[in-house]
Amino acid sequence: MIELRDIQKTYRIGEIEYPVLKGINLEIEAGEFIALMGPSGSGKSTLMNIVGCLDRPTGGQFLLLDQDISQTTDDELARIRREELGFIFQTFNLIGRISVQRNVEVPLMLSDVPHEERKARALKLLEAVNVAHRMNFSPLNISGGERQRVAIARALANDPKIIIADEPTGNLDLKNSNEVMNILTRLNKDGRTIIMVTHNPEITENCSRVIRLRDGRILENA
Ligand SMILES: Nc1ncnc2c1ncn2[C@@H]1O[C@H](COP(=O)(O)OP(=O)(O)O)[C@@H](O)[C@H]1O
Ligand SMILES: [Mg+2]
Repeated sequence: MIELRDIQKTYRIGEIEYPVLKGINLEIEAGEFIALMGPSGSGKSTLMNIVGCLDRPTGGQFLLLDQDISQTTDDELARIRREELGFIFQTFNLIGRISVQRNVEVPLMLSDVPHEERKARALKLLEAVNVAHRMNFSPLNISGGERQRVAIARALANDPKIIIADEPTGNLDLKNSNEVMNILTRLNKDGRTIIMVTHNPEITENCSRVIRLRDGRILENA
């Protein structure tokens, strides 16, 4: 489903080059639940942004869903992001000036889903993560745990095959972390492939594999 071959990412600031990913080789099969761990600055988010097609590598080959991403146009990449991938971030990244329900509708709008169907699907997704009672609230006026559940509903809007979660429990207390992990575990059991960055070894028990990154290289792949 995902294959990285000698992936490199080097940032350039002026004349100076900063190599961040230094040759990542990784294969991820459909249905896996991967935990990506490693110290701060080791390149986890950089790697997630490449796997999530939010950024392109500066070297190596990246195959996603049988497509060679280096040969893919920006338009096709945008389609893949919208339809095949769902994103969950540590800071939720919801839009404060529109309602919870509208937030979940955003990806559906971008995919031209008609108004009535959009509303119905958003409501169903919010019900599935137990936050439908907040549908008319601003995301600014709900709790952190609720915000992350809204973000999960939004990530699921277009029924993606792959979920990319960068420290999804990083800003949550234990109870809400457990709830988010229960939802992710359920989504994985339903057949979705999940790649999750985390600092917390305690929440990786339902993961099928832990990958450790250090200084831009994979340390352990077991
Ligand atoms: N856009 C950027 N330009 C320059 N350097 C960056 C950029 N994004 C990240 N970096 C650097 O790349 C390294 C890895 O960052 P990141 O992937 O965010 O690590 P992690 O998520 O593991 O904490 C850090 O040293 C960071 O400063
Ligand atoms: Mg990070």
